[in-house]
Amino acid sequence: MKANWYKGSEIVVAHDLEDLCERAAVRVAQYITNRVQASGRAAIALSGGTTPRRLYERLATGKYGQAIPWGHVYLFWGDERCVPPDHPDSNYKMAYDTLISKIPIPKENVYRMPAERSDHVEAALEYEKRMRMFFGLSGDGWPRFDFVLLGIGADGHTASLFPGSSALAEKKQWVAATYIEKLKVYRLTLTPEVFNCSAQVIFMAAGKEKAPVMKDLFMVERRSNRYPFQEIRPHEGELIFFLDQAACSLSPPFCKVSG
Ligand code: 6PG
Repeated sequence: MKANWYKGSEIVVAHDLEDLCERAAVRVAQYITNRVQASGRAAIALSGGTTPRRLYERLATGKYGQAIPWGHVYLFWGDERCVPPDHPDSNYKMAYDTLISKIPIPKENVYRMPAERSDHVEAALEYEKRMRMFFGLSGDGWPRFDFVLLGIGADGHTASLFPGSSALAEKKQWVAATYIEKLKVYRLTLTPEVFNCSAQVIFMAAGKEKAPVMKDLFMVERRSNRYPFQEIRPHEGELIFFLDQAACSLSPPFCKVSG
């Protein structure tokens, strides 16, 4: 049975991770430029993990890096591990090494999550405060990112919204401090409604270890809360999946590489 909750989203199937990142770089570079031209700025929430590394490297160099008006781009994070910013596990460090250190982006445009703070709840509140100042929202509203980049874990988590996480039900806070039992670590994460209020959500997933989750996405009716990434669907925005063939290998109807 084909699930249909993802209907209306765009599925881009790439040959492999390199091709996926190339296709995503073309789309992201153009989208950022368009958003800056349209509104004067582009506010983005970056993903962590390993999948986006080569995308960030592409955006920093070559034909994409020069074209993007980095002075009008504002970087946030969808989640962060509770480690220092120079720690090998830090999502900020990954983005700094592959992108930020190589582009002319003003340091005040980079909104790093203060996840190294020992008081994780305070750190989440501090980040939310900084986000509210940037978006000019002090009341009940929700921020609208121009786009957010998200990965998908083999267990269906996205950002640091893991199966069973209380943050999945968060309807007031923009940023949550969560303890991930299976990893025995704390993390900071933006909450589902923040992602769902963005103008565009781009999921990136590659590799055969993601095939079972993608199969559930495409071939099985949505089971609410089974996979956190299925809670993410912009209310008024675009949903785009960049996948490689390996990640689609258990979903035959979607295995064909896009044109
Ligand atoms: C993180 C990410 C997380 C990641 C997925 C996929 O902090 O690790 O935000 O949600 O996107 O775990 O990770 P890979 O890209 O490494 O497969």
